[in-house]
Amino acid sequence: MERVKILVIHGPNLNLLGERETNVYGTMTLDEINSALNALADELGAELKIIQSNHEGILIDAIHETRKWADAILINPGALTHYSIALRDALAAVGLPIVEVHLSNIHAREEFRRHSVIAPVAVGQICGFGVDSYLLGLKAAVKLANERRKK
Ligand code: DQA
Repeated sequence: MERVKILVIHGPNLNLLGERETNVYGTMTLDEINSALNALADELGAELKIIQSNHEGILIDAIHETRKWADAILINPGALTHYSIALRDALAAVGLPIVEVHLSNIHAREEFRRHSVIAPVAVGQICGFGVDSYLLGLKAAVKLANERRKK
C-alpha cells in the first residue's frame, strides 16, 4: 500500500529549539526532532512533509497547498495555539484529522497558555512529554491517516 502522508507543522519560535528556554523545551534542536520524526515515519510506513515558520500566513498557505496531498496533520502551533482563529479555521477548512502537540505541559504553565483555540478542531492534544509528544502524536496521526484511507 502507498505510504500515508503526514504534514508536520512547527509554529513560531520552534526554529530556536535547543537554545530557547531549554529548561522548558529541552535541548533538542528542531533538526534533531525532525530526524526522530522521519525515523519513526519510516518504521510506520509514512511520508512526512515538514515545515516551520514564524509567520501565521505562511503556515495557513502551507495547509491550503498540501490539503490534497496530506492524509493527516501533526501540528505544534507554538504561541498561535492560544489566539490564532485564522490558523484554527484553516485546519478546520481542510477536513483532515489534526493532532495537536506541545513539548511542554501547557496546562501547568501560565494562565494564558492553558487555553488552545486549536484543540476543538483537533482529534486530540498531546503535551508535556518533550520530543515524545511529537512521536506519540505522529503515531496517532498515522493511525488516523490509515483509517481515513480505508473509508
Ligand atoms: C509550545 C507551548 C506554547 O505555549 C509556546 O508558545 C510555544 C511552544 C510547546 O511546544 O510547549 O512556542 O507550543
